[in-house]
Amino acid sequence: MKNQTIIITGGAGFIGSHLVRLMVNKYPDYKIVNLDALTYAGNLENLRDIENKPNYVFERGDITDADFVSSIFKKYNPDGIIHLAAESHVDRSISNPMSFIQTNIVGTVTLLNAAKHHWADNFDGKLFYNVSTDEVYGTLGDTGLFTETTSYDPRSPYSASKASTDHLVRAYFHTYDMPIVISNCSNNYGPNQFPEKLIPLFINNIKHNKPLPIYGDGKYTRDWLWVEDHAVAIDLIYHKGKNGETYNIGGHNEWTNLDLIGLLIKEVDKQLGRPEGKSKELITYVKDRAGHDRRYAIDASKVQNDLGWVPSLQMEEGMALTVKWYLDNMDWMDSITSGTYQKYYENQYEKR
Ligand code: NAD
Ligand code: TYD
Repeated sequence: MKNQTIIITGGAGFIGSHLVRLMVNKYPDYKIVNLDALTYAGNLENLRDIENKPNYVFERGDITDADFVSSIFKKYNPDGIIHLAAESHVDRSISNPMSFIQTNIVGTVTLLNAAKHHWADNFDGKLFYNVSTDEVYGTLGDTGLFTETTSYDPRSPYSASKASTDHLVRAYFHTYDMPIVISNCSNNYGPNQFPEKLIPLFINNIKHNKPLPIYGDGKYTRDWLWVEDHAVAIDLIYHKGKNGETYNIGGHNEWTNLDLIGLLIKEVDKQLGRPEGKSKELITYVKDRAGHDRRYAIDASKVQNDLGWVPSLQMEEGMALTVKWYLDNMDWMDSITSGTYQKYYENQYEKR
């Protein structure tokens, strides 16, 4: 494949930063443009190790700002967009749905319009890739898996806004012939996840002997995937995925929240040198999340059979690596909980 210029939106976030790192290191002859507004969830410290590479550039801006997005298309003339920028936390979507409508829906249409306009309906060699979630499919009972043909049934403002992005991206494929791919992935875990999500929040709380708030009965089930495996799948789908197709990505790795937290506590206690299971005493049952989806589980056979992708890590290994990363990088965690990480951009970029 010829050398490419790719805009990755949301590249300073959790999954985006792993994807940016993978692509910057793997494709020295590509240009990787990280377009990110640096909301509370964006953190350029995630990319310190690659920020000076010649094939990497960062552009700060909002995907809902049509003039800004258009100027970026003009400046870089991209071959592809891999779109991850989003409001991504279900609990925030319950307390503030409008920011999800704005960023996830309006932002995605703004990008689609800029791509359509800039590529001037000549889509040869172009691709718009929407990175989406399994939450668009709603919730499962005790059995069954989400496949690519499962009907959409989103039940939170977050998942409804992500479902809208998928529908809009497909609409541009059918209506304007824009080349697109979509992937819907299960819950990711690993380094650099913003500590309002379950795993980093709980590691931080265990470390500081703070309560571990379990929603409802704790028997909600998620299918967990090592974040770098997601990045590998996105790279593969970007290069080898079929135009117009959807791919489900998941780890075949279902855990109830209680079992997952049991594993997490065991690993953190071990790495902190505490007696095994000591931190179980921190478990606290709290009021359930409104509309809490009971179970997510992905059938990833299409991406496995068609593109040869398989997850690389088992949960025990991935959890040990994850816990080690957060405990070794407590300054990263502390800079977020204290808010100082937001100064990083000013220090690193604006004063130059
Ligand atoms: P994240 O919240 O960690 O990162 C989101 C990034 O988007 C941040 O860097 C933020 O600054 C940026 N952003 C937010 N609003 C923006 C705007 N208006 N303009 C430009 N940039 C903006 O999210 P994540 O967990 O890395 O998820 C990335 C994508 O993957 C999202 O689209 C999410 O729906 C999807 N996804 C996430 C998971 C998961 O488990 N985390 C699973 C499947 C799919
Ligand atoms: P989360 O990381 O928010 O991901 P999602 O809701 O998108 O799957 O939550 C994972 C699971 O953990 C979900 O069932 C909600 C539950 N949870 C808690 O029990 N307590 C918490 O403090 C958080 C943040 C999540």
